[in-house]
Amino acid sequence: MPTVIAIDGPAGSGKSTLAKALAHKLGYIYLDTGAMYRALTYLALQDKLDLADEKALSKLAQANPVRFKARGRELEVYIGNKEVTKEIRLPEVDKNVSEVSAHPRVREIMVAQQKAIGAEHDLVAEGRDMGTVVFPVATLKVFLSADAKTRAHRRYLQNKERAQVAGSSPSQSEEEIYQAIIARDAYDSQRESSPLKPAEDAVLLDSSHKSEDEVLNYLLKLLEIHEAGGINGR
Ligand code: DC
Repeated sequence: MPTVIAIDGPAGSGKSTLAKALAHKLGYIYLDTGAMYRALTYLALQDKLDLADEKALSKLAQANPVRFKARGRELEVYIGNKEVTKEIRLPEVDKNVSEVSAHPRVREIMVAQQKAIGAEHDLVAEGRDMGTVVFPVATLKVFLSADAKTRAHRRYLQNKERAQVAGSSPSQSEEEIYQAIIARDAYDSQRESSPLKPAEDAVLLDSSHKSEDEVLNYLLKLLEIHEAGGINGR
């Protein structure tokens, strides 16, 4: 059976950086499940769908499975043959993705696609329900958090870097990002269907005062212990 490492946590906690580094180190595939909900949101906005219409969104998700292509450590995201890697990070998508991902039927479709990928490949999977719903028997479950100010600051720096590469300037201030993160956390944690919460057997990690390397090295140590039969005997 393939090995899955599940990394969950709120927006901006450092999940993506950690998951990418871990996948690279272990030679596993990196699965960004947030990108799947983002791609669907982008498509729905393009099609001017009513985001409260669960049936229409489910149909759209079913008909347009998201595909990933690895480029170095990064993932290119596609819907059909159209690349949407940049578009799914637009503030408009940030603002609406929580509503789209809260629909139970939409989640069912995404979860089935994620499980199918996990059945075929060794994975580092990041999201909100990796440890609780999608991969309940994951080898290692991590719930990564950080305080909201730290997360907003990291997101701002990330956006600034992306904008510099594109020769533009960031479209949101740090304060705007902070407000958006707080709103998204509240929505993601309070929804009825698979709310954001740590699995009972997850390792809880607060990255507010830790460097990326410190978090990565800590997890690599945990995996070593696990391989020696230490973590829950799983
Ligand atoms: O990780 P992210 O910020 O790219 O995720 C975007 C949104 O998708 C997030 O607000 C909640 C949702 N999401 C989810 O509900 N379940 C997942 N497994 C991943 C993301």
